[in-house]
Amino acid sequence: MTRRVAILISGGGSNMVKLVESMGADHPARPVLVLANRADAGGLDRAAALGVPTAVVESRPFKGDREAFESALQSEIAKHAPDILCLAGFMRVLTAGFVQPWSGKMLNIHPSLLPKYRGLHTHARALEAGDGEHGCTVHEVTPELDEGPILGQARVPVLPGDTPDSLAARVLEQEHRLYPAVLRRFAAGDRTRVELG
Ligand code: GAR
Repeated sequence: MTRRVAILISGGGSNMVKLVESMGADHPARPVLVLANRADAGGLDRAAALGVPTAVVESRPFKGDREAFESALQSEIAKHAPDILCLAGFMRVLTAGFVQPWSGKMLNIHPSLLPKYRGLHTHARALEAGDGEHGCTVHEVTPELDEGPILGQARVPVLPGDTPDSLAARVLEQEHRLYPAVLRRFAAGDRTRVELG
């Protein structure tokens, strides 16, 4: 049975594009929705150009009322009846009330080798720590931020002269390989870890 995938974004959506492009005829899933919490998210036009239905649930008007925002989000998502949610640069922290019903069905990509560097500014933090390698992780979403079972990681070397931007660009290239690889396995019911790099 083909799994239905909704992808949640906040920005340019480069990971979303890679996920959508990966879901070809031989794939166990297909994209049914790209949803952004900002009307100006650049990924919306890119999703539409790829023929994927889009929606916007603006988070800003809810002014910190997370439950009301998440209720609106859940209603919009439900219209498209997805089996799997992929967070792809979705920059809102979700509460347990939203996350728990999606337990085992929601993935996130994070730009660090978790459990290192949960939260923001991961590339600068890896450089400040003098790490020799850095990377990205796809994990199942649980109520704790950037926790949850790890489904895949990709590693990149930290190079002399790296800046947060140069390191981020190298990690992003790996994100684009890792997330589709994990989704393909996950949608087929396989939670074996993907290791790249
Ligand atoms: C990606 O690097 C993703 O790992 C990161 O935001 C970027 C989104 O880029 N996500 C997080 O930091 C989540 N905590 P994209 O919009 O081009 O896919």
